[in-house]
Amino acid sequence: MDGHPCLRAGRARALGPALSGAARPPAGRGAAGANHLPAPATGRREVASLHRVHLEAVRADITTLAVDAVVNAANSALAGGGGVDGAIHRAAGAEDLARACRALGGCAVGDAKATPGFRLPARWIIHTVGPVWRGGGHGEDELLASCYRRSLEVADELGCESVAFPAISTGAYGFPPERAARIAVAAVRSAPTRVGRVLLVAFDLETERLYRRLLSDGG
Ligand code: APR
Repeated sequence: MDGHPCLRAGRARALGPALSGAARPPAGRGAAGANHLPAPATGRREVASLHRVHLEAVRADITTLAVDAVVNAANSALAGGGGVDGAIHRAAGAEDLARACRALGGCAVGDAKATPGFRLPARWIIHTVGPVWRGGGHGEDELLASCYRRSLEVADELGCESVAFPAISTGAYGFPPERAARIAVAAVRSAPTRVGRVLLVAFDLETERLYRRLLSDGG
């Protein structure tokens, strides 16, 4: 998957000028915790609202992607877990990431917070907490949309150009996959973000097909 030309382009951009200077993690990346996140980058692209995000569907293990930020489908304690959360913690380095997560003091459902990527190819991990599916009458749709919007806001603060999202809430949290995919696509498309490129990462063929269909339908 790493050989995908788009992913290589993402790596080039991840290491490019957009992340030099203020948006770079501190020297000794990986040793620093979330308390040491640098000041947000500002003024990189002034005309954010005129910019349309380029959305792609890709089937991959998100921990292998060389983008500026990968999003983690975390729990509200940011305590690590199974699924994509477990994979990200293992690949980033469980001890370093657990320490950085502890310093964040948890995260509300629908919100997002960042740590460095430590040993991941991605420079940042944006941890967001999706809703547990409880039948759809408990604000689940809006909370899921908020995960995508808030993650992109945090990505903007970090000066990210490329961001990869897993299918938040569709595993252990039980959100119906098609409904979640529609919400993901609509939320990213309508977000007023400076992020140029968003990867919707499917781990299974069914999710990949869903994303591809929605993206080719225009939503
Ligand atoms: N790369 C990309 N996607 C992945 C990966 C991976 N390495 N591993 C799993 N996935 C996919 C799953 O197939 C699913 O489509 O991520 C999606 C989200 O599933 P979960 O990881 O179970 O996340 P979620 O449903 O949001 O549940 C979050 O699970 O692991 C715990 O700590 C986590 O309590 C939290 C809960």
